[in-house]
Amino acid sequence: MRRFLVAGNWKMHGSSEMTADLISGVARRVLDAARLSEQKELGYDILVCPSAPYLSQAVDCSESQPISVGAQNVSQFDSGAYTGEISLSMLAELGCKYVLLGHSERRMLFNESDKEVAEKFSACLDHSLIVPILCIGETLAQRQAGQTEDVVAAQLDAVIDTVGITGFANAVIAYEPVWAIGTGETASPEQAQDVHAFIRAKLDGLSAEIAQAVRIVYGGSVKPSNADEQFAQKDIDGGLIGGASLQVSSFAGICEAVQKIIEKT
Ligand code: PGA
Repeated sequence: MRRFLVAGNWKMHGSSEMTADLISGVARRVLDAARLSEQKELGYDILVCPSAPYLSQAVDCSESQPISVGAQNVSQFDSGAYTGEISLSMLAELGCKYVLLGHSERRMLFNESDKEVAEKFSACLDHSLIVPILCIGETLAQRQAGQTEDVVAAQLDAVIDTVGITGFANAVIAYEPVWAIGTGETASPEQAQDVHAFIRAKLDGLSAEIAQAVRIVYGGSVKPSNADEQFAQKDIDGGLIGGASLQVSSFAGICEAVQKIIEKT
């Protein structure tokens, strides 16, 4: 069975105080919900992705807590004259375990191309210490034009063509319809499940084993009030959470939805 992942994408929000309070507050709530008095293995994974200046502090705060830390972006290059960029070795040295790749805000606001995203994904595999979370998803106009599957397939193909299907053996996919990000409008559980099933079926055509094992999380206005019905879908293995990851109550509430699903199964 695939392990759920609840990942918080803080985007360009946060402070030192928030980093400390959020990590300790969420850890306390999820351990209570799991009735664990001290840090033990939860039955699922929790990840926070703060802005780069807070990564080191976040790693310190999450030590001996059931929370991992990831970055929101990384360079495809190892080192060199790339002002403002951060390398995978640097992230690994800080203690990061994951990195978001190709978030729609990076694709749209910073013109990140499919090719660059694929190069970053490939660099993660070479590096092997940091798990890539590949973000894909269609815009509203693309959905309305009936192009959702074509768009998602093309974004996946750009990476598969570079790294092959085996590149997904240790990766996460985040399906995030652009029209649902930060808008308060969530894809219905059926809409999300349909695209997740499409993604899994596409991978299945290349490797049944990898398709069954890869975690596909949903992102786009996930909140405690809709997390349970999203996560109950067969091919949805957790969430990538933006706005609701910035507060202990909402992020922990989403984690608790996973805890309940695990206890029922
Ligand atoms: P949202 O953001 O939860 O605020 O919609 C999700 C994301 O951008 O990853």
